[in-house]
Amino acid sequence: MFFNDDIIEEVRLSNDIVDVVNEYVRIEKKGKNYFGICPFHKEKTPSFSVEPSKQIFYCFGCGKGGNVIHFIMQIENLSFVDAVKFLAERARIVLPDEGSREELEKARKRREIININTEAARFFHENLKKNPAALRYLESRGIKESTIRKFGLGYSPEEWDSLYKYLKSKGFDERLIAQSGLVIPNRRTGGYIDRFRGRIMFPIFDIRSNVIAFGGRILDTGGRSDSLQPKYMNSPETCVYNKRNNLYALNFAKNSGEKRIIVVEGYMDVISLHQGGIINTVASLGTALTENQGRLLKKYAEEVIICYDADKAGQAATMRGLDVLDSVGCNVKVLSIPDGKDPDEFIRKKGSEALKNHIDNAVSLVEYKVRVLKKQINTDTVDGKVSFINRMADILSKVENRVEMELYVKKIAKEYNISEEAIFSEIYKKTKPRTSLRGTGLKTRVFKQREAIGTDVVNVAEEKTQDILYYERLLLALLSIDNRLYRAVKKEVSVGDFTDENNRKYAKIIFERLDENKGFVPAELLNILDSEAVESFVGIIQKECNFDDNRKAVMDIIRRMKLYKLDKRKEEILRLLSDRNTLQERDVEKLKLELNSIILKRKSL
Ligand code: CTP
Ligand code: MN
Repeated sequence: MFFNDDIIEEVRLSNDIVDVVNEYVRIEKKGKNYFGICPFHKEKTPSFSVEPSKQIFYCFGCGKGGNVIHFIMQIENLSFVDAVKFLAERARIVLPDEGSREELEKARKRREIININTEAARFFHENLKKNPAALRYLESRGIKESTIRKFGLGYSPEEWDSLYKYLKSKGFDERLIAQSGLVIPNRRTGGYIDRFRGRIMFPIFDIRSNVIAFGGRILDTGGRSDSLQPKYMNSPETCVYNKRNNLYALNFAKNSGEKRIIVVEGYMDVISLHQGGIINTVASLGTALTENQGRLLKKYAEEVIICYDADKAGQAATMRGLDVLDSVGCNVKVLSIPDGKDPDEFIRKKGSEALKNHIDNAVSLVEYKVRVLKKQINTDTVDGKVSFINRMADILSKVENRVEMELYVKKIAKEYNISEEAIFSEIYKKTKPRTSLRGTGLKTRVFKQREAIGTDVVNVAEEKTQDILYYERLLLALLSIDNRLYRAVKKEVSVGDFTDENNRKYAKIIFERLDENKGFVPAELLNILDSEAVESFVGIIQKECNFDDNRKAVMDIIRRMKLYKLDKRKEEILRLLSDRNTLQERDVEKLKLELNSIILKRKSL
């Protein structure tokens, strides 16, 4: 679905970027801009800026930027269209297609499936109260009645289809019951049977405490292992449940008032910790942490502590989780449970106070990785020691902050009895030397911009093409900042003069608008760009468009564009002339004349 430009602009204008960003990031006013810690990359000093007057955000650290729509796209992980819908809803704007039958139908279906889940949770909960064996089991695991109520725990009857019958009796549509994932088709009878039978039921909530899915655990059968049954069974993915975007108990943890969130593996760990008063705990439910989960965590916590089981699988999951969280910019630490197996067992043996006291012993990502490395390598031999230092340097070389890196080196040198110099010299070998390019004025800007566009300089011709791509964008950006420049630009440049295909497309839209005397502002310019171009343009607007005299800058750019065009043609002519055999004498003369006129024109520019 596409919205027309006016609607998009209305939605953008109705959502002040400062207000919207404020809902996700702590920002403080400094001068005319707001600054905060960037939600899109890892940093300690704020380089994420929001400029109210331009209605643009830009991170000087990672280069992410855009208008309020792009902010929502990135932080909520939505497409452009969905971000517009999201913001329209926020501003209570009714979008033309929003009331389409299809969309309404989808929303109704989601609502109904949540109703079915809620009713099922009630059913399981009532059934638990009547089932002594299930209650005894929970009691044996130290779970109090108040905890059962808080988490809405239940028990699914050991019958084939009691839930299915119950939901039907409540008047729910059979097809929707099937889509909730609570029942599975019975091929023999053509009807349905309950998915969960004879299990402790854990309702899974979304952030607003809607029941979106279930986990079900078998009762321990006193030594008699029933190997045919998996310990846990979970709802399948449905239109209301995507396990990659969800964290168990985040609906409670987000209100803990704590700056850090602890991530554990399972339902029982979360429940145990919450019962012990450690309510800033969520579970990833046995699956590897995803980037989306990482972003969710970052939204609600300044620091994330991974506290997985101490077994091999848990350790591997910790490593993966660390990297995922680090990559989305979470500040991560690892809490290893001493001589225990999982956090739940530790609490039951030592009490929640013991765990609380232990939380401050969580180690940083770097320390954890070095610790694991030490366990893997036998450093008693010379070879072992060399390889340990080498791989440790790999880990340390990724620490961006110099001071932090030095602190680690000091600490590790002491802990593992290695000289600081030895570690440093290994780290230096790993860090690539940075090329510094000196230059002034536009030239440096071009270089920086080329870096931002992410292109490697291949050769001189390529370099010039990249320069011109940048100049063209700079011109369009300046036009958006000061629409009055258009009168001068129009005399010298037409849409066809833009060499880059995308730039030509943008220029066409912009020139048309300005021809119709419709003004346009930088943030609006961003509405029409392809996603690839948004960051590049915001970077240009925020960092490059600070000329003393915009008019002079524009004229200079136009001159460069003209020179580029002439040079291109000149090269072409020279190429043709170098291969004279294929040319008629007459053509050679023509080309020579053209070449002369180019040289003259170049001089006059
Ligand atoms: N899990 C799963 N399917 C399994 C085993 C585990 O989906 N067959 C998921 C569950 O979400 C579980 C989590 O992985 O909570 C962690 O597994 P585990 O540590 O075995 O479960 P606990 O929650 O610790 O349960 P318990 O203490 O009752 O054994
Ligand atoms: Mn456990």
